[in-house]
Amino acid sequence: MKKRVNIGVLVSGSGSNLQAIIDNAEKGLLDADIRVVISNNPDAYALERAKKHNIPAVVIEHSDFSEREVFDRKMIEVLRSHSVELVVMAGFMRVLSSMFLKTFPMKVINIHPAILPSFPGLHGQERAFEYGVKFSGCSVHFADEGVDTGPIIIQAVVPVYDSDTDETLSARILKEEHRIYSQAIQFYAEGKLEVVGRKVRIKNYKQIDESCLHNPPLTKF
Ligand code: GRF
Repeated sequence: MKKRVNIGVLVSGSGSNLQAIIDNAEKGLLDADIRVVISNNPDAYALERAKKHNIPAVVIEHSDFSEREVFDRKMIEVLRSHSVELVVMAGFMRVLSSMFLKTFPMKVINIHPAILPSFPGLHGQERAFEYGVKFSGCSVHFADEGVDTGPIIIQAVVPVYDSDTDETLSARILKEEHRIYSQAIQFYAEGKLEVVGRKVRIKNYKQIDESCLHNPPLTKF
């Protein structure tokens, strides 16, 4: 029988990434069981999404805790009580303590709406747009103690068009977030991720034809 991985999803907001993971799990595309959703924000719409799918949804408000580690310990307690093996940060707006990361070594993943290491931190989409990049995208990576600095598992690249606004670009990026996050979780569930230093290798990686994207497209060369 195929091994399944128990995941816990940490959220703070809308939870569209959570929804994509729920949908892919329900379609049988993901060998993962969402055991619990934890939000630090009681008003997060992500909580409603979890409830609609009968997934335990727990609010742990960071403002109720004077220290980050105490807040993190509470999350660890809840994650453990739901037998979580992989922690999935999906729009979770808190930095995890090193104590938390040591409790789940290379078992915490995060999604970021930019091609790391460019534009880490808040508002990655807008900052890339304002910078004038011709491509942007999103990255799923293992969490480490920095902000969006851990080993990269998978990235998707999207073009930036002259007609874009930061909203249209963000929407294009979000669509790809919804695809690559499930792919990263599935690689993890299949035991395909091997972390060597900063690099994540995918076991049985299938190389596709060498390809190159240009934006704007080349006209002559
Ligand atoms: C996503 O763009 C994610 O990459 C970023 O916050 C947004 C969360 O969206 N960290 P959602 O809550 O999953 O809809």
